Amino acid sequence: MVPVCWLLVQLLQLVQLVAAGKYPSFQVAMNDIDFVAPDVAYVGDSLCDCRAKCLVQEQCTAATYEKLSSTCSLSYASQCETEVQNKTGVVGLFKYDTVIRDVFITKTRTSNGSLANQQRLCRAEGGEPLVIKTKQVRDKALQLVLAFGTSNGQMPELVAWISAYNYGTAYVWPNGKPISNCASASGDLNAFHNADGPAAMLSSDNIIVRTAVTKAFSYPVLCHRY
Ligand SMILES: *[C@@H]1O[C@H](CO)[C@@H](O)[C@H](O)[C@H]1NC(C)=O
Ligand SMILES: *[C@@H]1O[C@H](CO)[C@@H](O)[C@H](O)[C@H]1NC(C)=O
Repeated sequence: MVPVCWLLVQLLQLVQLVAAGKYPSFQVAMNDIDFVAPDVAYVGDSLCDCRAKCLVQEQCTAATYEKLSSTCSLSYASQCETEVQNKTGVVGLFKYDTVIRDVFITKTRTSNGSLANQQRLCRAEGGEPLVIKTKQVRDKALQLVLAFGTSNGQMPELVAWISAYNYGTAYVWPNGKPISNCASASGDLNAFHNADGPAAMLSSDNIIVRTAVTKAFSYPVLCHRY
């Protein structure tokens, strides 16, 4: 059965988008999350109306819906720019899987920057090794490095392990995606004080540095929770 909220006009627009090879859908749904600054908000919609409004607008990248106030908010920000925050009772629907709710840095430090070891440390504190996909996430990661990163005792920079890794041909994130995206670039990959290697760290001067997997000093690990 076709939901009541799928107005004919919206269906027609959707059909046009599908015909144009731009079939829109949501990749991720999350509870208790909202935009920092929505582009437009409608009061009185159902969740179904809200979904439909975002699906038929190509420039809409995400929708959030607050059941209590029947408020539908849409974001036209690019997947790199979407900024979110926790908000109880709000459901978020995202056309891209770039949104991360929470970035944290491990309390435990390690001299072993292998991905397996980063996973072990992040999982022990309830997360996964951080993948940077948005400016908001990179900014948060940088704040954490400035506050809790460690230095090797000789260099002024503070650093923390990050999950980008070179498997022989190029640096990739653990999901296999190239390091270059809207919030990080291969230009970020400077060698760290003659200690080059396949692992990576984020430094307090906001550079993703190439570095050896095994270090003489111990550093925390950047992680995220969805
Ligand atoms: C947001 O919610 C997540 C999941 O419930 C939680 O882990 C995180 O600490 C919260 N972040 C803030 C800033 O409150
Ligand atoms: C680094 O950590 C991983 C996973 O914990 C472990 O398998 C590996 O042997 C460690 N490497 C060194 C050099 O300690």
